[in-house]
Amino acid sequence: MCGIVGYIGKNNAIPVVMQGLQRLEYRGYDSCGIAMMNSDKMILEKVTGKVEELQGLLARQKMSSSVAIGHTRWATHGPPTISNAHPHTSQDGKVALVHNGIIENYKVLRDGLISAGYEFSSETDTEVIAALVSQAYHGNLEQAVREALSYVVGAYGLAVIHTDEPEKIVCSRKGAPLIMAMGDGEFFVASDVAAILHYSKDVIYLDNEEIGILTPDGVKIYSGDDEPVDKKIHKITFNLEEIEKGGYEHFMLKEIFSQPQTIFDAMRGRLLPETGDAHLGGIDHMIGSILHADQRYFTACGTSWHAALIGEMMFEQFARIPCEVEYASEFRYREPLVDAKSIVFAISQSGETADTLAAIQEAKTRKATVLGICNVVGSSIARETEAGVYIHAGPEIGVASTKAFTSQVTVLSLLTLKLARLMGMSREDGLEISQAMQKLPENVEWVLKQADQIAEIAKLYSDASNFLYLGRGVNFPVALEGALKLKEISYIHAEGYPAAEMKHGPIALIDKSMPIVAIAPQDKTYDKIISNIEEVKARHGRVIALATEGDTRIKDIADHVLYVPAALSFTAPILNVIPLQLLAYYVAVERGCNVDQPRNLAKSVTVE
Ligand code: G6P
Repeated sequence: MCGIVGYIGKNNAIPVVMQGLQRLEYRGYDSCGIAMMNSDKMILEKVTGKVEELQGLLARQKMSSSVAIGHTRWATHGPPTISNAHPHTSQDGKVALVHNGIIENYKVLRDGLISAGYEFSSETDTEVIAALVSQAYHGNLEQAVREALSYVVGAYGLAVIHTDEPEKIVCSRKGAPLIMAMGDGEFFVASDVAAILHYSKDVIYLDNEEIGILTPDGVKIYSGDDEPVDKKIHKITFNLEEIEKGGYEHFMLKEIFSQPQTIFDAMRGRLLPETGDAHLGGIDHMIGSILHADQRYFTACGTSWHAALIGEMMFEQFARIPCEVEYASEFRYREPLVDAKSIVFAISQSGETADTLAAIQEAKTRKATVLGICNVVGSSIARETEAGVYIHAGPEIGVASTKAFTSQVTVLSLLTLKLARLMGMSREDGLEISQAMQKLPENVEWVLKQADQIAEIAKLYSDASNFLYLGRGVNFPVALEGALKLKEISYIHAEGYPAAEMKHGPIALIDKSMPIVAIAPQDKTYDKIISNIEEVKARHGRVIALATEGDTRIKDIADHVLYVPAALSFTAPILNVIPLQLLAYYVAVERGCNVDQPRNLAKSVTVE
């Protein structure tokens, strides 16, 4: 997997595809490649490493073509080498193909083809599809692609070209996203709108098993049953600035600093501070079902899973309704106890995470009602769920999720407030909470002003090999998220722990080289966490404490104190995570890591 871009039209395809690949590079960046038609000859160029290198190579060759497909890769089958990079070609060199997803039965298909004399040149699952297309080709590429895909089990988003039909790109998807876009005499295919936004805002979202055909005259789409489909054209509303760095050194920093705005956007028109309530247009009609469900689940991956843990605690503490959280990747294997009386919330920034999509399918098979909390409008999860709420955080480019997390928690807070009021929370409590939420953007702004101080602390600890993050209650998932941020981008081993659990294991690791980040706001757990900090200090650990503004006592025990404004436990997770995002960012910068494109990670994991 990772990013696909294809172009056909009146202009030179190469710069369009290369610019698209650059925009998608944040998703996968271990190797990349392009295949293009030059009259009826196929030209293929691939490199390991950055799109920039491919660009340099192409610039030296001064080529032009009106049809091209390109790919940036995040390795699944086989290491990042030139032979494993996409596009993959058929043995006769006539077919070139780029693919996201995983072909689960590729081994059987590959072995079958090898015993029939076929020779493969890569270790990838993708090359099998190129081979199948080539064998099924009898003068019509879309028919060949359809036949090839009928043998395939797994997930795919793909684009294919063939030398015998040089003015055609055929594409299809199942379980991995793919869009087509229309310009003036030019047509595009991509795995993400960000790739083609510079050229077109008129987009068609392909549905599973549909086959799209792009020629210089336009696009056609056929259903899985080979019937022509009339697809809706969607107008993209976000613009290019939103996917550019805007003066910041990294996307991640830009995204951290955009949180006063993105949190505001998540609440806009939804928070009702005059009545101490909330309203969520997308799921208000489902509130009765949520309240009266026999079971409620949150399912998600990565950072979104941490947001789900906070949602669970809020549902239980404030709305007094039970709820469970399960990793999407585990959900379907644990035979979940869900049925027609269950509500399952799928939480996802990208709306394309394969494990989360699989959990949704499982829940639907068991007749549960599935609701989405997503960022990307029109994404697969948004379309696969019965109803949902968009978090409106705008495109998130940094691989380590920051603004999407705080917007997810904001939406979960609004939902909790709505449910809590229906479950008997008083108007006064509702007013207190909603007014605290209203002040969040201003309070986040206040926390962000400490960026320089955090950068200084980061310098002192950037050579640490391990970090421990401690928090209690709703700050435990915040500790997990802080630790995840650090390991994702700085490659320092970091663990989040409920503070009191430290004594049951991690305390054995503590010595003078071990920094501990203790989330210690002045709430009901304050005295306990102070004792935990003392326990760390007694073993010569170095403590970076996150404390409530004005807390002077903690200064005497901790080595460093980062302050956040006093907050209700309702709004605390959002405020407390911001310094942890900044700490991870500055440590990674100090270590010279590629913050926006950390090794081995991908922004959107479209494989299970
Ligand atoms: C990847 C990303 C994480 C993200 C996770 C879930 O691992 O690198 O930042 O939290 O996927 O993604 P989702 O888009 O479903 O929230």
